[in-house]
Amino acid sequence: MDSWEALKKECAGCRRCSLCDTRHRLVFGTGSERAQILLVGEGPGEQEDLRGEPFVGPAGKLLDDMLKMIDLDRSRVYIANTVKCRPPGNRDPLDTEQGACREWLDRQIALLDPKIIVCLGRISAKALIDPDFRITREHGIWYDIDGRRLMATYHPSALLRDLSRRPEAFMDLRSLRKEIRAVCDGVYV
Ligand code: URA
Repeated sequence: MDSWEALKKECAGCRRCSLCDTRHRLVFGTGSERAQILLVGEGPGEQEDLRGEPFVGPAGKLLDDMLKMIDLDRSRVYIANTVKCRPPGNRDPLDTEQGACREWLDRQIALLDPKIIVCLGRISAKALIDPDFRITREHGIWYDIDGRRLMATYHPSALLRDLSRRPEAFMDLRSLRKEIRAVCDGVYV
């Protein structure tokens, strides 16, 4: 039987790809280990790499605001990334890096057993929903995968760069709130 403690310990020493050579800290994930909602981002940025926590930079501030809009906060969700170590210069994680890291995310999903997974951005949606995922066309659509409900929305960093996408992201959040009411237990309603 896997446990959070065993997984964190094993993951902390990971040297499966070369991102371990340039990382300051591995960013495992944070939040409630009993959450029914998992948010999956792309990979740590500069601030996250220094702090060892996901979404602590400007994108994280926006993510907090987005959660607040639907009466959520970090204590009621779990937040992880497709790769646990920062790609240098914030480039997209390579397929090989995502592949090397995938087992950690899969084990996090198995342990958490969330009812809902929200992919934050294209990279995460490609990894968890469909390799051909097109975020502009397919954000906000719900998918049934392995008995869970999955949806992707724009990455908060994209929303910082392009304000015109925010109304669409807001609609996605409203859809998330509706889905939470439909599939999560009473604690979320
Ligand atoms: N962007 C991500 O995708 N993940 C983080 O943890 C921070 C920024």
